[in-house]
Amino acid sequence: MTATAITLRIAQRDDAQAIALMSRDLIEAGLGWKYEPERIRRAMNDRETVTLVACDRSQLVGFAIMEFGEERAHLVLLAVRPSHRRHSVGRRLIEWLVDSVATAGLASIHLELRSSNEAARAFYRAMGFTETILVPGYYRGKESATRMVRVLRVPGPLPFNWRPPTLDKK
Ligand SMILES: CC(C)(COP(=O)(O)OP(=O)(O)OC[C@H]1O[C@@H](n2cnc3c(N)ncnc32)[C@H](O)[C@@H]1OP(=O)(O)O)[C@@H](O)C(=O)NCCC(=O)NCCS
Repeated sequence: MTATAITLRIAQRDDAQAIALMSRDLIEAGLGWKYEPERIRRAMNDRETVTLVACDRSQLVGFAIMEFGEERAHLVLLAVRPSHRRHSVGRRLIEWLVDSVATAGLASIHLELRSSNEAARAFYRAMGFTETILVPGYYRGKESATRMVRVLRVPGPLPFNWRPPTLDKK
């Protein structure tokens, strides 16, 4: 696998099963399966939610689900298959979403992860997120969560002369 062979695209209805199975096995293991295919399909149909997938040719190797609010975005789920880790797949998924959130003018991105998940914590730190608080029992009373945030701009109304950072670069 070479990183350049990986393509990103918006998820399609047929991807729901593969995404749900990845969530069950790679994110929710030991907690009970909450993100079943029907729930993933609902996320795909939600106009305020983006479901992004990474593919190695026809194989779905990673995905991320992000909810866009008025001022805050929430990263709901993110996973990369073990066979494709440490090849920047997660980085590319996050960077695509961060660019979209910044272009939309939102102020910050929030997420929760299992407090025991040191690999994900290191990954999110490398992606510019910082820890905020610990939430005991967040995962169905079984495990605590660590909240992390990445601030993109000062919260509050957008100034009149605000331009998306991606346009400012040009
Ligand atoms: C967390 C996860 C998405 C990272 O995906 P990935 O594609 O392997 O990450 P990348 O290759 O883009 O890593 C980017 C950087 O993050 C950091 N990083 C990633 N995985 C790491 C690990 N296991 N340990 C330490 N740092 C890590 C590194 O700085 C890495 O850069 P480098 O490879 O140049 O050193 C992946 O490990 C995963 O799917 N884990 C299981 C599901 C999960 O925990 N999801 C997040 C919580 S919902």
